[in-house]
Amino acid sequence: MNDQLHLIENAAIVLPDRIQHGWVAVVDGKIAEIGEGKAPERGIDFAGDYLLPGLVELHTDHLEAHYVPRPKVRWNPVGAVLAYDAQIAASGITTVFDSLRAGADVDGGGLGTELMELAGAIDTVRRQGLFRAEHRTHLRCEIPAPDAVEMSTLFLERYPVDLISLMDHTPGQRQFRDIDKYFIYYSGKSGKPDAEIHALIAEKQRVNGARSDANRPALVELARARGIPLASHDDTTLDEVAQSVAEGVALAEFPTTLESARECHARGITVMMGAPNLMRGGSHSGNIAAKTLAREGLLDVLSSDYVPGSLLPSAFSLTERVPTISLPQAVAMVSSTPARATGLTDRGEIVTGKRADLIRVKQSEETPVVRQVWCAGQRAA
Ligand SMILES: [Fe+2]
Repeated sequence: MNDQLHLIENAAIVLPDRIQHGWVAVVDGKIAEIGEGKAPERGIDFAGDYLLPGLVELHTDHLEAHYVPRPKVRWNPVGAVLAYDAQIAASGITTVFDSLRAGADVDGGGLGTELMELAGAIDTVRRQGLFRAEHRTHLRCEIPAPDAVEMSTLFLERYPVDLISLMDHTPGQRQFRDIDKYFIYYSGKSGKPDAEIHALIAEKQRVNGARSDANRPALVELARARGIPLASHDDTTLDEVAQSVAEGVALAEFPTTLESARECHARGITVMMGAPNLMRGGSHSGNIAAKTLAREGLLDVLSSDYVPGSLLPSAFSLTERVPTISLPQAVAMVSSTPARATGLTDRGEIVTGKRADLIRVKQSEETPVVRQVWCAGQRAA
């Protein structure tokens, strides 16, 4: 698996502005030359398969599913990280922002201090050079959680962080503006009796506002002082977008309404939506559909969210659902645009001088399939 890539030939190369049949040469992990037609020497014969830039994923909490494979079961953290990494790489993702949640919810949700064990396992795998994809950290801060600032501060003291998002899942606003949707979501997730969930909703609404007011500026300052890009989460109203703009937010994760997405886009904030939302035809929380934003020209980035394997199919599917979007444009939403939004200018597109993060994609009858993956010219899957 440690073979270095030198030449790919006979490929449908998805360039930033067009698809070209030809070849790509790689030297020292970077794209050295791109040619049309027959290659100057023999390389890996793609037999006409697509060559895409490696995908860049900004928001996946899928690591938790490997670490907590069943309720109350904890898997060995290093084993969980390795299994997760393999799934990420096999999904065509060469740069992933592992989303780790800081701040225990009032209902005990989230990993609490076990977050540090997972971060330690990621650090161990990285130091040993065992990762297939490149892993970065996206710290997801649940603003109204009592320990949100404390946990985030502790994390930042110990581990590198490349993206910070500010979340507030208090029922009655943002993702759960419709309280009934929160009830259905939380009831399914927790299995708790209805009366207990109603009490929990009332308790969250009673205490969260004051906590958010105190914690939010402190969390913004943690990011600002370290120059870490900031993301907003579930922006719903124009007031919330104005707050994001004032806080210097670069990326809007999952805006929930057309008006908030339009305002984010107009104010230069990169708009990201979930690939599962696109593939399923709508949001599981009943919010705006990714396809609607794409049709309006307001969709910038797709994220696999809770299904790593959704990212590649979502790019291909987008061109069918919204025919005005070309394949190179759709691929940019899962590669160069998320890279740029987080300050990564060395990757995300098939351009001379960029990192050779490359994937081979075969279009089967049902779905595009990832067949080979290279990360900085090194075979990763
Ligand atoms: Fe959310």
